[in-house]
Amino acid sequence: MGLKKLIKEKFKVLHQEEPLLFRSPGRVNLIGEHTDYNNGFVLPAAIEKAIYFAISKRDDSEVNLYAYNLNESDQFNISNPNFIKGKWSNYLKGVVDQLNKMGCKFNGFNCVFGGDIPIGAGLSSSAALEAGLAFALNHIFNLGLEKLTIVKLAQKAENEFVGMNCGIMDQYINVFGKSGNVVRIDCQSLDYEYFPFDFKDLSIVLFNSLVTHSLASSEYNKRREECNLGVAIIQKKYPEVKSLRDVSEEMLREVKDEINDVVYKRCKYAVEETDRVIKACDSLIEKDLKKFGKYMFQTHEGLSKDYEVSCEEMDYLVELTKGNEDILGARMMGGGFGGCTINLIKNSGIEKSVEYISQKYKSRYGKELEVYITTISNGTELLSDN
Ligand code: GLA
Repeated sequence: MGLKKLIKEKFKVLHQEEPLLFRSPGRVNLIGEHTDYNNGFVLPAAIEKAIYFAISKRDDSEVNLYAYNLNESDQFNISNPNFIKGKWSNYLKGVVDQLNKMGCKFNGFNCVFGGDIPIGAGLSSSAALEAGLAFALNHIFNLGLEKLTIVKLAQKAENEFVGMNCGIMDQYINVFGKSGNVVRIDCQSLDYEYFPFDFKDLSIVLFNSLVTHSLASSEYNKRREECNLGVAIIQKKYPEVKSLRDVSEEMLREVKDEINDVVYKRCKYAVEETDRVIKACDSLIEKDLKKFGKYMFQTHEGLSKDYEVSCEEMDYLVELTKGNEDILGARMMGGGFGGCTINLIKNSGIEKSVEYISQKYKSRYGKELEVYITTISNGTELLSDN
């Protein structure tokens, strides 16, 4: 039986009623890393890996949660979504907390959820929980929230309740993802544009380094501070600058002597990366995937050397792809310090490449590389097979 069926069945056993079933996807990001909170561009896509929510409303204010993969449950009252350090339910309680703060009128609910997004692999399982639940509650309680409002409230749940100061990309793509398309999000205006990404002879392949990003939260926040520091210095000369989005490479060079080396490197990367997303999209329109892949390699270089959010294992995984004619581009993906690399590989070369890279990775780190060949899917949606 497929996962969503199992989740639905479990719901029926626990609550003796028919639930509605929602699918909330994980994501990849082709290019545009650590640019969202600098108001730049990102180019993510929703993928087939997802969390499924079986859910129904209650007449009282109780919430019953059951995490299928963990075989664990949690209960709370919507009037008191209490934070419990390290607990999975925080991602969901954070959503209820935001809905309360927005003055939304809703009741308690029963919910069984589970999925196949690997945790800690940089595929945004947390955004899938937050945005997925927000979307589902909006539907079952007829809250009338716009998609962008759902995105923002899900991001706030992560920022304010979970305590991770993430940007908007993961929650945005979770809601706005579209099968067969990558989405260029302008993180300043919050506009978006779809770019078809349906190349028959190549795939987006993820290599999971299996390094869990334990440094991610503290170092992530540090990078944000470093970028803000850079902006504050640039503003002395250019008061109109609001974020690194408004900064050109030339402007940055002009103030180089006033910025410490580390902050300079961070800003340099972020400024270059925003520009790269635009160029990468142009190469998509020209269907020049080779050129697109080159930008991915450049991004990795910047993330590793200037932004310093990669790790030895991910650097090695990218290094192993170089000189391989079948691999057009490769780079670390997501917040960093572990998780997956993203690779554009010709279908005819996937088997050979994976075999070679897995074997090298195993002999150096003693770990069995996990490989996911992805398909670009829709954003969160109500499933019609309810
Ligand atoms: C994490 C955050 C995103 C984004 C990426 C880096 O996934 O949640 O907002 O900043 O890291 O691009």
